[in-house]
Amino acid sequence: MTDFKISKIKSRWILDSRGIPTIESDVFAGKAYSRAAVPSGASTGVLEALELRDGGKAFMGKHVLKAIANVNNILGKKLVGFDVREQEIIDAEMISIDGTENKSNLGANAILSVSLAIARLASQLSEIPLFNYIYNLAYKKSRDDYLLPLPCCNIINGGEHAGNNLSIQEFMVLPVGAKTFSQAIQNVAEVYQTLKKLLLKKYGPSAINVGDEGGFAPNLNLTSEAVEIIIKAIETAGFLLGTDFVLGMDAAASEFFEEDFYNIDGRKLSEEELLEYYMDLIHEYPFKSIEDPFNEKDFRNFSNLTAKVDESIQIVDDDITVTNINILEKAIKEKAGNALLLKVNQIGSLTEAIKAARMAFDNGFNVMVSHRSGETEDTFIADLAVGLCTGQLKTGATCRSERTGKFNQLLRIEEILGENAKYPLKLNSWKDFH
Ligand code: PGA
Ligand code: ZN
Repeated sequence: MTDFKISKIKSRWILDSRGIPTIESDVFAGKAYSRAAVPSGASTGVLEALELRDGGKAFMGKHVLKAIANVNNILGKKLVGFDVREQEIIDAEMISIDGTENKSNLGANAILSVSLAIARLASQLSEIPLFNYIYNLAYKKSRDDYLLPLPCCNIINGGEHAGNNLSIQEFMVLPVGAKTFSQAIQNVAEVYQTLKKLLLKKYGPSAINVGDEGGFAPNLNLTSEAVEIIIKAIETAGFLLGTDFVLGMDAAASEFFEEDFYNIDGRKLSEEELLEYYMDLIHEYPFKSIEDPFNEKDFRNFSNLTAKVDESIQIVDDDITVTNINILEKAIKEKAGNALLLKVNQIGSLTEAIKAARMAFDNGFNVMVSHRSGETEDTFIADLAVGLCTGQLKTGATCRSERTGKFNQLLRIEEILGENAKYPLKLNSWKDFH
């Protein structure tokens, strides 16, 4: 008889992709165990659940020994005996032990490492793939075919993720013309390598250094320069702009917002001017996804832009909603955006992340599962995107193992599913899939 009861939890620190410590936990049931690690952002939303860091000298204050102790000494004791298949009950228990609104007692990083490892252990002991287990958990039913995500790949990095002058944080290519996930990621990889050659030729060797999310970080000054060279790469690689690829961006505008203006392209734009700036970009180029176009407190301008753009264009809420259902509710009510960026560590438990995705879907919002700029080799979010049937995932460029690890996991999932692996053949076709 399989033993599903938690017998032990053991946590440790590991290094994330920026060389900063993060937490990883092993959850045991008898001799079996599963492991999960927690990522970390750079352009974080102010209302994210608290990532507990030690302060003091070690790792410049960024050590996570307190979070580790909270797992080993508190959660590790209180959760012994719980059945790992009771995800919602265990997550609720951890939230109650923490006792704060933003998980500041135990740390969202501590809680999340356990929450994810529990789901992984339950899937392992139940002998079903993680994506399948997550689907059953999220939708309380089962299915045979699954939607692999459109990989929204960030191939030029700016903002907080790169040492250059680009204000926009992420320039993404969306391989909408592919028929399968593997074809999609191959298409992106070909564009990425072509972009490398073009950058080298036009701007010299320093232009092919990569940023935190594996995209190139050329020292460009203007949004249009980045967009133009990406378009050239798409076409030089033999693809058709608008058909094979459309474009996306994460402005992460809180990072270039300065009290009453936005610092972009060497100019200081008012909120009205920034809105026009986006409208001009949309008219000139096939942008179909724009994330965090205004600072994270500005629901009004998120609404204004959402109302102005064509329905086929996503306005994606990241820092503004921080995967929190209470804030998402407000965004839905005010039509501030029409898509949710889903980051598990913004909220700190799998159950709450699932709730946020379901609330988004139930209210006509799209959902894009997302990595953080500080990642680990953990590939949980690949299974999460498939399990929630979001149809979209952003996890950087086709470069750097902490990014490609997620794509590689999706290639394996595609193989496992065989004919039951579906791919969004056009934008928004994911809507009827959950
Ligand atoms: P972050 O960046 O992980 O540094 O927050 C990702 C994003 O803003 O989407
Ligand atoms: Zn973002």
